[in-house]
Amino acid sequence: MEQDQIKQHFAKQADEYEQLMVRLVPQYLEQHRIIQSLLPIQDRDYSVLDLGCGNGVLSELVFRKLPHSHIVGFDLTENMLKAFEKKLSKYSERYELKQGNYLSDPIGNQYDIILAGLTLHHLTWSQREQFYMTLFTSLREGGLLIARDIIIDEDESVRRDQYALWKEFMKSQGEDPENWYSKHMEKDHPMTLSNHFEWLRNAGFTKVACHWRLYNFAITTAQKTGSF
Ligand SMILES: C[S@@+](CC[C@H](N)C(=O)[O-])C[C@H]1O[C@@H](n2cnc3c(N)ncnc32)[C@H](O)[C@@H]1O
Repeated sequence: MEQDQIKQHFAKQADEYEQLMVRLVPQYLEQHRIIQSLLPIQDRDYSVLDLGCGNGVLSELVFRKLPHSHIVGFDLTENMLKAFEKKLSKYSERYELKQGNYLSDPIGNQYDIILAGLTLHHLTWSQREQFYMTLFTSLREGGLLIARDIIIDEDESVRRDQYALWKEFMKSQGEDPENWYSKHMEKDHPMTLSNHFEWLRNAGFTKVACHWRLYNFAITTAQKTGSF
């Protein structure tokens, strides 16, 4: 999807983003419990990048568990960043927001943690392979990448079954599954976990792991070697 299309798409969703995700993404809220459990146990002043932060839904999880963290919220869409400010106003001393395209604008470095929630599938496969190197460089030694994303299974028939289950889920939530499915097919670039892990390793990451998966959604981590 082109950057302008992405902006237009998400600008419309900003105000009711989370309610919509609950209807479109299976176990969206349960995923947050898992993501929170993957964050370090001990609170300290972690430096965190929330990439494609949207309304700050993942940053909120970080602040609840690690309130001394400092977060950079990075997103293309102005309305999403406005929703972030509104949602996380009580932590305003502890975050800064950057509006930009993470493919072409500097994303910063020396992060302890990078969160990438439902955003990397906007990149084409070649952009993504390349971008994993940027993510690796932006972390400090021992840093952790946590990603949740849309994926596709390696096996064509499993993929079909999983898409059918996803559509059933959306329908059960009152959404129009064919509309969302065709948007997804037209605009997104989901990848297999095999490719995801291979490209992460090629970029230098170790300890790549999948912690949760349901249909065509997964939560994964990867680490930059060293002690945290
Ligand atoms: C589906 S929302 C994800 C929000 C949140 N991270 C989550 O896990 O629910 C995807 C966000 O990624 C942002 N985005 C997509 N491509 C981007 C890019 N190239 N640079 C910066 N932000 C981007 C969109 O503006 C949107 O707010």
